[in-house]
Amino acid sequence: MKALVLSGGKGTRLRPLTFTCAKQLIPVANKPILGYVLEQVAATKIKDVGVITAPETGSNVEEYVSDGSNWGLNVCYIQQEPLGLAHAVKTAQAFLEEDSFVMCLGDNITGQGLAGFLEKFQNENLDALIILKEVKDPSSFGIAQLDDKGNIIRLVEKPKTPVGNLAIIGTYIFSKQIHRAIENIKPSWRGELEITDAIQEMINLGFRVKAEILNSWWLDTGKKDDILSANAKILDEYIQRDVKATSIDSTIDGRAKIDETAKIVNSTIRGPCIIGKNVLIKNSFIGPYTSIGDNVAICNSNIEYSVIQNNVIIEEIERLEDSLIGRNAKVTRNGFSRTIKMHIGDYSQLEV
Ligand code: G1P
Repeated sequence: MKALVLSGGKGTRLRPLTFTCAKQLIPVANKPILGYVLEQVAATKIKDVGVITAPETGSNVEEYVSDGSNWGLNVCYIQQEPLGLAHAVKTAQAFLEEDSFVMCLGDNITGQGLAGFLEKFQNENLDALIILKEVKDPSSFGIAQLDDKGNIIRLVEKPKTPVGNLAIIGTYIFSKQIHRAIENIKPSWRGELEITDAIQEMINLGFRVKAEILNSWWLDTGKKDDILSANAKILDEYIQRDVKATSIDSTIDGRAKIDETAKIVNSTIRGPCIIGKNVLIKNSFIGPYTSIGDNVAICNSNIEYSVIQNNVIIEEIERLEDSLIGRNAKVTRNGFSRTIKMHIGDYSQLEV
């Protein structure tokens, strides 16, 4: 058994952050999303991992993952133009050989490990196991229609007319038969070789394809609000109180994880939250579900439910909420004037 971790794509819905960073490397709770995916793979017996990268952001991914030894994995890289998930499998064929494999989308996080799914796939001698979760917006996902016994009737990629609300999440397990099915499919309307079409083709060819419902949460972090939700979930589930930072005239409540090199002055911090290295927080309030990266300075500001990446400066901001601030950004107030002065990148989104 091998693993194929997809860390390519253009990340258009997360621009401008994805102009300079692979979407899978955007941090939640101060760790790249891809890190959580690799941890889940590392918790199984799988050692050989192929990481699919895009030409534009591949070097960032390689820098972060390196040879995989930080996770106890052997990682190799396979570059792919973004032509669909089935196209990624096709591109990785030389790495996958005839082995079964788990395919994980590097921007999907779940609260449930892979072990149970791998066991089912092996015990029931399946050719494909897909994992499903109910969603509110079925037209944004691959959807599985099941009969009363939970058998798959059909699979539809981003259905325009309703076929149910069970989305195919970004964790799939395949036997070598997936390659045969991919040979038979054509690109979809969006010009991509869809993995959903390939799995439907496996069913058409009579291979053993089953579905399992995910018991825990699942987040596809393709958009800003999904990143913020993932950040909140991870902080909620994994952060323990750990405060060794210098704290002067400050109150630090609840599950706050603050690096010892941070300095908190005349401020209130309320967990769950995480604060990175060399951070200065002065005369400010940091509310729940906030992650603050390294080398950040926050003065005279109130922040809640946000992800602040490395090297950011925030000053004199009365209330910053539901925000995702990219690396090296500076957010300050223009004195007492009501004029808004901006210097923002392409595809930025501001709500004022
Ligand atoms: C892809 C798949 C879709 C699946 C989704 C899960 O969608 O095509 O079937 O439900 O991942 O995140 P995309 O992210 O390419 O829109």
